Amino acid sequence: MDTRLVKVKDTEAIRDEELAEAAQILRNGGLVAFPTETVYGLGANALDETAARRIYAAKGRPSDNPLIAHISCMEELPPLVARIPEAGRRLAEAYWPGPLTMVFPKSAVVPYGTTGGLDTVAVRMPSDPVANRLIRLAGVPVAAPSANTSGRPSPTMAQHVWEDMNGKIEMIVDGGPVGIGVESTIVDVSGETPTLLRPGAVTIEMLRDTVGRVEIDPAIQEPPGADFHPKAPGMKYRHYAPQAELILVEGNMDSVVARINFLVKEKTGQNYRVGVICTDETRDRYRAGLVRSVGLRAREETIAHNLFAVLREFDELQVDLIYSESFSRDHLGQAIMNRLTKAAGYHVIHV
Ligand code: TXA
Ligand code: MG
Repeated sequence: MDTRLVKVKDTEAIRDEELAEAAQILRNGGLVAFPTETVYGLGANALDETAARRIYAAKGRPSDNPLIAHISCMEELPPLVARIPEAGRRLAEAYWPGPLTMVFPKSAVVPYGTTGGLDTVAVRMPSDPVANRLIRLAGVPVAAPSANTSGRPSPTMAQHVWEDMNGKIEMIVDGGPVGIGVESTIVDVSGETPTLLRPGAVTIEMLRDTVGRVEIDPAIQEPPGADFHPKAPGMKYRHYAPQAELILVEGNMDSVVARINFLVKEKTGQNYRVGVICTDETRDRYRAGLVRSVGLRAREETIAHNLFAVLREFDELQVDLIYSESFSRDHLGQAIMNRLTKAAGYHVIHV
């Protein structure tokens, strides 16, 4: 299949004509990748089970891993859900449109092919102008997982989507690099107490500010054990991972830098190609290896923004091993550390 690449000229002044064909493809059961404020999504009509199946095929994704249905405005929510719990209403008021996904009891119109067989449906209203306009023009809720091959780091620019999806989908809409860089926060509001299933840019601190008590699904922090049943099925798969083995080094900054320098020297001596993930503050302190800064430690949003692109770059450089500094787990740091720890398969060296 020929994958067409369509570039949106000015995302501040989108014309409907630019997205008309993409919307048409979605309505007709085809696949269109598009930018959102978090990562690029791979869209299909969420109410069309056959279209949803094509998403799983293009991504190579296990079909028990449910998809998020994306909407463009509040009026599009009620048809998809059996009820809107109070916490869901308040969180929607506070953070929609934006990087927050909520899990609701599903209505009958949402097919099990979209929800991976679950009686709940995850819904998100993106704020990205391209995403929002495209969904509105499509006139259907748009199921969209991240537009990467299953297991690879999520795409934060159209080029990443092209690498993974060229020849497998009808169209890629290029709206430039995304803003946030890590996937949306997921909160389950279908039960008694809201539960955080995946950390993102709407932080646990913000959620608790809005609705009070919010539980945290243990799957966010813990490695998978024998009877590991995360509520977001996607959290059980190895994720966000570069091809190389990634190892996190955690502790006070001086010890971390010293240990990484030591390990890079040792492994380079054994003929490994070694990458280092550091920050602008520490970059000049590394003496060997392929050193990449993910941003400024003092501005964690820069780290979220660059993390997946750096992991993909190391794939291209075909490194064997990556050592990464670790980050604070507060605020956006919770999402950054969640993705990094999973990418590392929970391999952390404490110094
Ligand atoms: O930022 C995002 O959320 C991006 C953009 C494209 O919107 N999408 C995204 O989708 O990250 P995906 O499919 O890569 O991740 C969705 C996660 C998976 O871990 C999945 O298991 C979980 O959401 N999920 C979806 N429906 C669910 C449900 N009904 N109950 C619990 N978890 C659900
Ligand atoms: Mg994903």
